Amino acid sequence: MIKKTPAIIQLPKILDDRGNLTFIEGNKHIPFEIHRTYWIYDVPGGEIRGGHAYKELHEFIVAISGSFDVELHDGNEKTVFSLNRSYMGLYVPNMVWRQLQNFSTNSLCMILASEDYLASDYIRDFKTFIKLCHGN
Ligand code: TYD
Repeated sequence: MIKKTPAIIQLPKILDDRGNLTFIEGNKHIPFEIHRTYWIYDVPGGEIRGGHAYKELHEFIVAISGSFDVELHDGNEKTVFSLNRSYMGLYVPNMVWRQLQNFSTNSLCMILASEDYLASDYIRDFKTFIKLCHGN
């Protein structure tokens, strides 16, 4: 599965009277091998996380609990995805500017990443990102 555009991906959902269950396997449900998992939580009202792009890293973002918005910019236009279900998530390929905002109280944002943490993979300046998108 090769995907290069952001997309909401539905995950398997095993319904059970004892409680539902969802799972993810790298390279099967999402288009990359999972290398690292981290989560963002205890976000104070109104705070914004992210605000950067990755040169190489791909990621999959899930609202495990609560809700938040992921604002994406592909170099040409902005798109906002609202995440509020634990059985679906947003695939974000490399070279997409992304910002996470409008976190609900007690929301839990889980991010699966295709690479180890590498500061040099970050593009933190939006103007630089736009230039790189347009090949200069
Ligand atoms: P960062 O990805 O910059 O978050 P945000 O874009 O929301 O500010 O991460 C914040 C800090 O956490 C950064 O200084 C590096 C550290 N960090 C790690 O050490 N390992 C990780 O896997 C991640 C995601 C962050």
